Amino acid sequence: MQNKYLAMTPPMGWNSWNTFTWNINEDLVCGAADALCASGLKDKGYEYVVIDDCWSLKQRDENGRLVPDPEKFPHGMKAVADYVHSKGLKFGMYSCCGTHTCAGYPGSFEHEFVDAETFASWGVDYLKYDNCYKPKHMDGEVLYKRMSLALRNCGRDIVLSACNWGNDEVSRWIRSAGAHMYRSTGDINDSFRSFADIALSQIDNLAYSAPGCFNDIDMLTVGMYGRGNVGSVGCSDVDYKTQFALWCMFSSPLMLGGDLRCMNDFCLDLVKNERLIRINQDEESRPAFVATKSWNDKIVFAKLLSNNEIAILFVNFSESKCGVPFYFENIGISAASGYGLEMTDAFTGECIGVKKEFMQMHLEAHDCACFICKLKK
Ligand code: GLA
Repeated sequence: MQNKYLAMTPPMGWNSWNTFTWNINEDLVCGAADALCASGLKDKGYEYVVIDDCWSLKQRDENGRLVPDPEKFPHGMKAVADYVHSKGLKFGMYSCCGTHTCAGYPGSFEHEFVDAETFASWGVDYLKYDNCYKPKHMDGEVLYKRMSLALRNCGRDIVLSACNWGNDEVSRWIRSAGAHMYRSTGDINDSFRSFADIALSQIDNLAYSAPGCFNDIDMLTVGMYGRGNVGSVGCSDVDYKTQFALWCMFSSPLMLGGDLRCMNDFCLDLVKNERLIRINQDEESRPAFVATKSWNDKIVFAKLLSNNEIAILFVNFSESKCGVPFYFENIGISAASGYGLEMTDAFTGECIGVKKEFMQMHLEAHDCACFICKLKK
């Protein structure tokens, strides 16, 4: 049966937008596929290579079909898909539920079924579906339902990556609509404030993420350092560490947005960290919750993992070094039980022993600490 087992854990891969925006072409996409393999990212689970906006001509053909821009994609999309597949990866593309995409190319409104057939014929495995130029009289929810049915009916398993930026209370209906992931916020840019605000805005929506349909807090900017077209000031290594840990704890899809050809070792090691990826890809996908919150900007998140483990993430969202307190009582470990947590640092793999009742991590501005824990007396 089609689509039954898609996105049982958050999809992982790379998307062209953050770095290349309108400057996308066949060589860059095939190069991204090569880089996913050569860097070892594919072996860690990053499998989708997704072309975002700006890949088509401005007009459909005489049969009403989308046409890849022959200057950018001289061999057509099937050839790109075949190349990506030959590397053992999956291929993603982009369209929009309105009349035009956000960058002004043809959207899929009233062409949903023919576009789904076209994508299937090219070998597409994933469709990001945006929200620009939606006719005013149309209900957004219905438009996502249309494309979902069109994809389910197209003869190929295609992940539907909805992107309506959190409008229309999307988390309440998007799972019913059949999407496999859904953008819940506006666009990220490469700065601490941008990704921190995105993550903080989704704390009340974490429970709307589960196998088959995940809350997508946007493509990662890890490794961009201000380069690329979504630009902005760039982040520090500490910022990227916190960004990746938050995405993992929040069970967000892990779509890399940096230029894979020039990721430095720090960022590559970070996004390849098996303990962090394990938190993100845990098969139960239990939502994280706030375990202790102090002054809105010092927050400890907890997430139950299968295997009787618990992931704990301390984040200092503030602009100065400070203590981030955590009360074990809040996650269900009473002092009377005699239990504590044996804590292994998710970044380094170092076990810091068994802690009980209360602990406080002293963290630099923007920094985090992340542990995989087991109950221990
Ligand atoms: C919207 C989306 C972005 C990107 C652009 C493309 O802004 O939210 O992620 O896809 O459109 O134009």
